[in-house]
Order: sequence, then C-alpha cells, then structure tokens
Amino acid sequence: MARGLAHDLVAGVLLDRRPLDQVLAEAGARPEAAALEPRDRAFARLLAATVLRRQGELEHVLRAFLDKPLPRSAQRAWVVLLAGAAQLLCLKTSPHAAVDLSVESVRRQPGGARFAGLANAVLRRVVREGEGLLSGQDAVRLNIPAWLWQRWEAAYGADAARRIAEASLKEPPLDLSLKPGEDAAAWARRLDGTLLSTGSVRLGAHGRIEELPGYAEGAWWVQGAAAALVARAAGDVAGRTVADLCAAPGGKTAGLAAAGARVTAVDDSAERLERLRQNLARLRLTAEVVAADAAGWAPGRTFDAVVLDAPCSGTGTIGRHPDILRLKRPADIRRMAEVQARLLRNAAALLRPGGTLVYSTCSLEAEEGRAQIDALLQGEPALQRLPIAADEIGADPAWIVDGDVRTLPCHLGTGELGGLDGFYIARVRRSA
Ligand SMILES: C[S@@+](CC[C@H](N)C(=O)[O-])C[C@H]1O[C@@H](n2cnc3c(N)ncnc32)[C@H](O)[C@@H]1O
Repeated sequence: MARGLAHDLVAGVLLDRRPLDQVLAEAGARPEAAALEPRDRAFARLLAATVLRRQGELEHVLRAFLDKPLPRSAQRAWVVLLAGAAQLLCLKTSPHAAVDLSVESVRRQPGGARFAGLANAVLRRVVREGEGLLSGQDAVRLNIPAWLWQRWEAAYGADAARRIAEASLKEPPLDLSLKPGEDAAAWARRLDGTLLSTGSVRLGAHGRIEELPGYAEGAWWVQGAAAALVARAAGDVAGRTVADLCAAPGGKTAGLAAAGARVTAVDDSAERLERLRQNLARLRLTAEVVAADAAGWAPGRTFDAVVLDAPCSGTGTIGRHPDILRLKRPADIRRMAEVQARLLRNAAALLRPGGTLVYSTCSLEAEEGRAQIDALLQGEPALQRLPIAADEIGADPAWIVDGDVRTLPCHLGTGELGGLDGFYIARVRRSA
C-alpha cells in the first residue's frame, strides 16, 4: 500500500531520525513495497516529502483539534495523522479515502485501536475547518525551522530569506546534463523539457527516469543545473589529470570525463562508488575509481586540477531533500565545516604548482562556503583565489559574488519549473 510506505518513510525520518533517501532505499526494497506500481511508489515519496515540507502547517491544524498531545506510545498514530492531513490539505486527495484509510491505518498499529476514534474525529475536523485555520497564517514561517530562517535572514537579508524559504518548500524539477556533442535543444524537444540558459535540460512531470529516451544509450545524466556548473569551473580539462574528491555518485566525474579529463574519482563510500561505476558505464565514460578517505588520501603524485564537492549540511537542496528541515541542527553545520576544512587541506596538497582547485558545497551557510576558502587562503600563501566569470560556466552574472558562484534556491524563476539548488563554488590556483 502506497500510504503504508509513506508512513514508514515519515516515521523513518521523524521518529528514527534517518535521511529520507536511506529510509526509501531500505523500506522500498521490502517485498510489499517492491511490488508497488511505480506510480504508487512515486505517490508514497510525494506524500512523505509533503509531510516533511509542511510539517509546521500540518501540526498547527492538528494541534488545534486535540485537547492534549498524543502520548509517546502513539507516535506512529501521529505520523498517520500528519500524512492524513497532508492528503487533505496539500494533495487534495478525496476526503473519504484520506480519512478512512488513515483511521484504518491507526487501528492496525500495535495499541492503535484506542486512537482510531480520535483519529477519525480529528481528520473530519481537518476536512471541515483545516483550510480556514491555515488562512492568515504565515505558512513559510511555520514550515521552516526558526534557526535556519534566522541564519538566512542574517546572511541574505529578510526579502531574500523569504524567497529562499518559499523556493525550498517546492517540489524541484528534474535537470539533465547532456553529453558534449548531443544537441541539447533537440533533446529538450524530445523529452518535452526546457533548455535552460545554463545548458541543462529541465523536465517537469516525467515518468521513470530509466525509461526516458536517451537514458539507456547514455545521452545524458541526472544532475541539478547548479551542480553542473562545478565541473565547468575547472576550465579546459581536456587531456589533464583531475582528482575528483568526494565523487560519488559521479555527476561531476561525468562532467569532467566528458570534457576529456583523465579523472581519478575518490569517495569513501563503496556503495556510492558502485553507483558511480554504473553511471559512468552507461555514459560510456571512464575514470580511475578509488575508495579512500579523501582527507588523508596520499597517492604520491599531484594533479593538474582538483575538484572537491564536499559533504555538507545540504541546506541548498532542501527542495530535493526535505528531511534536512527536520534532521539538521546548528551543530551539524559546525561539524561539517570541520570535515570540509580537513578535506580542503588535503585537496590543496594534491595540486601541482599552477594547478586549479575547485571547491563546492550545496549549502547556503557561509561556514561551509566562503569562510572555508578564506581560511584556506590565509593559511597557504601559495594559493590565490581565481575569480570565476559567469560566461565561462554558463551562469547568470547575478549568481557571482566577489568571484565565487553563489546560487540560491530562488534563482532561475519562481514558477512551477523555476528554482535552482543553492551551491557555493570557488576556484583557487596554486602558484608554487
Ligand atoms: C556532495 S556528495 C558528492 C556528490 C558528487 N560529487 C556528485 O557530483 O555526484 C558528497 C560525497 O562525499 C563522500 N564523502 C564524505 N566524506 C568523505 C571522505 N572523508 N572521503 C571521501 N569521500 C567522502 C560521500 O560518500 C558522498 O558521496
């Protein structure tokens, strides 16, 4: 049942505090979920993502209809109520189906029978009064954790913070990077997509990715339009040696290899490296693949270029990963910034004199972006910032701030097919 899978996904994130993609991979592999039609699996993911995005609004409504919070033993029933309210208020599912199936689901939980009547009464009130309770509320403020809002306001100003928040709460489109030599405009027409100014092709509603034209023959790979800028910032890499650190599942490796680089792709996750190998094989691209901790990797040689797409809090990709809203804390940003600093130090050590280092994260937080590069440059006089020009990488000039790329989720339009992942990209050169 699609709703049962959605409940497992939400419970995995909110109760077990695990990333949505991880829960989806595990729960989705169970026989009952694996037997679901692709359409039903997609509905389960959409429902779970909607609960995670709009948890603040949904709780505002549900709490108004409860005299007191449900006990801890009824956490799973609370998840079902959240999903029921999301169907009624956000996905506009038929009230009959949403209420009855939710109540049935609560009844089937261990110890849930005693909450079934309450669930029925609460969800019926959501049908009648829910929308009214939400009108006049600042939905975006309800859904974005206050600590994140305050950070964005301090970094980007009040107006931009609101636009970032609004864009982060939307289901993002699917972007594709075309292999060089492919006719991007022709692929955009064939896939019923739009050719973006950056060169990526953007799709709205689409079926299974594996069944889209061009997938099997390796004409394109899935990569956000902002992420696609990273490999381009390395410049002309044809025939050059490039170490791609933190490479899996290989979006940037593919961009570098397709541009003719001799790439060594390093990642510490064997599982994710397997996906990188599969992606490269489908695209008929090659790279040397190394499983290692990139903070300590010492191959005994240097590279013409190093790309470090570092692990981060991911606050620029909340649209794709709404679990970030519910799982991350300020301490995660401090922790990831320390990891990035270690990775950057080793990345710089792998660079030959005259070589180029590209550093990127999909975070909106300065600690994971510009502050990292400022600290690196301060400690290493042989390194200098090499400003990135918009036209070099197919970016909009508004996305360049003091020579670095700073994309925001509210860039590239606000309509249904607008938006961009929030990426920070900087480039540094080693003089000696
Ligand atoms: C932002 S993702 C990389 C996405 C990838 N560059 C792409 O374009 O497809 C970060 C990656 O860093 C890897 N990672 C995290 N810590 C690492 C470390 N210490 N050494 C190597 N890889 C690491 C993770 O396994 C993950 O694949």
